Amino acid sequence: MKKPINPEIACHRPPAWLAEAVFYQIYPQSFLDTNSDGIGDLRGIISKLDYLWDLGVTALWLGPIFESPFQDAGYDVADFYKIAPRYGSLSDFRSLVREAKRRGMRVCLDLVAGHTSVHHPWFQASASSKSNKHSNWYVWTKSAWDAHETNFIRGFSERDGSYLPNFFYFQPALNYGYKNPDPQKPWQLPVTHPDVQALREELRKIMKFWLDLGVSGFRVDMAASLVRGDDDGAGIEELWHSYREWLDRDYPEAVLISEWCNPQRAISAGFDIDFLIHFGEPAYNALLGTPWGDMPENKAKHGPPAFFNREGTGDIQRFLDNYLEHHRATSGQGYISLPTGNHDFPRHRRTRDEREIRVIFAMLFTMPGIPFIYYGDEIGMRYLENLTAKEGSYQNRTGSRTPMQWTNGKNCGFSTADKKMLYIPVDPSPQPPNAESQLADDQSLIHLVRRLLGLRKKYPALGNTAEFEPVYAKKGKYPFVYERRLDGACYWIAINPSEKELSIKLPALASAEALEVLDCNLSVTKSASTLKMGGVSFGIFGVSKTQ
Ligand code: NOJ
Ligand code: CA
Repeated sequence: MKKPINPEIACHRPPAWLAEAVFYQIYPQSFLDTNSDGIGDLRGIISKLDYLWDLGVTALWLGPIFESPFQDAGYDVADFYKIAPRYGSLSDFRSLVREAKRRGMRVCLDLVAGHTSVHHPWFQASASSKSNKHSNWYVWTKSAWDAHETNFIRGFSERDGSYLPNFFYFQPALNYGYKNPDPQKPWQLPVTHPDVQALREELRKIMKFWLDLGVSGFRVDMAASLVRGDDDGAGIEELWHSYREWLDRDYPEAVLISEWCNPQRAISAGFDIDFLIHFGEPAYNALLGTPWGDMPENKAKHGPPAFFNREGTGDIQRFLDNYLEHHRATSGQGYISLPTGNHDFPRHRRTRDEREIRVIFAMLFTMPGIPFIYYGDEIGMRYLENLTAKEGSYQNRTGSRTPMQWTNGKNCGFSTADKKMLYIPVDPSPQPPNAESQLADDQSLIHLVRRLLGLRKKYPALGNTAEFEPVYAKKGKYPFVYERRLDGACYWIAINPSEKELSIKLPALASAEALEVLDCNLSVTKSASTLKMGGVSFGIFGVSKTQ
């Protein structure tokens, strides 16, 4: 749905620190285990802060670290105010925030705002047949026989009603109210109902609790899902707008990052960053493919090929049509992120070799908006096929959640525990990539990531806020060339994911100076204003537009 930025929040500007931010997503279970129980922990994260800083990372997004029965990897919270013991203590968390701050880094948490675990005491209370303070904190029908509400869960408890799940059956939806309640369904409470208001206030308290401990913001899980009966989205916008106003007043440095996948809508609602990812708006898949869609057996099911494919059969315009709409609508008001991956879809390495990943990174790290690196992508971790599901990971998610590979030692340096105790098995291949070996090899993928992020920092025209404009972007053609520009500085980035050798002629190439030699597989003939690109290659050039 197209929507202009809400004029009421037009005065909100993202906190200044985002202008140079580079995020790193940590799946805490799989990052580094320091007490040999086979599960990653907060002390593990603390001990790798220097590694992350050296990579060019300025902020962390940690997956949920709250108390939970872990039926969905922590996206089923049982207590929003407590750290899950498997990750450590509150004191460990304080150390993490302090140590990050000492290095100039920020920590953001995952706020699972839309639901809790069925084991959360609020839900347990709300499932009671006796009316109590929490009875209305979840969405319950008035009778267990409301059979027409097919997506509701019946028979959970003695309460005569069925509840609305938000995702899996054990994740009951918290009740943020119905914007337009259906008069035939009196259990649909209006957003003004006092119990709904009490829940809304509780979410604010949860945010305040963690902000007071020094966190810099939240990635909000399923951020669009909270208000129901809200066809035009006015209800969800009002809700986030009210949190935004409070944050702007009391915590102006705090950021809100949404899992919405509709930057126009999310930023209009008051978010600072929204992801373009594998669901919702089509841009990400048009660029990179539904990673499972590029598997030969799935090709027919998943529509036209992505731009990043070796055969060169994609179409950059499919990406640009959607991306530019969001970019233009949000520019200056908030940021779009095109992440390298996340815990919900297969790593791009599943169907691509390291060379192809290099070209993908060259683009993702020179686009406007905020880079997000999913742990392990910087070393090209593979997606592991056919793993047993763990904590609700199921197909397409488990293989992206395997332990980080730090060294070529035991359990790839992730844990000293017995292999059988590991949260998810480590990559069993003979020589899986690991951080230590790559750091010792100047030509490795991790060094490319460091150089690209280094360029982004050194040249603000390649950074988060600079202008973006396609230069050579022809339907069904390769390469894709785009311009980044700021204060008179101008760079061109040429991206050729196809294995075909290509040659294009553009007048401004007469002035092109390769910024730094990151990829030798291409050449510019200035006299002929020609760029020749080898298969699967990229280049970054300084250009002078006066020529
Ligand atoms: C999105 C999260 O990223 C995913 O991992 C989780 O299963 C669902 N939301 C439910 O919270
Ligand atoms: Ca541990």
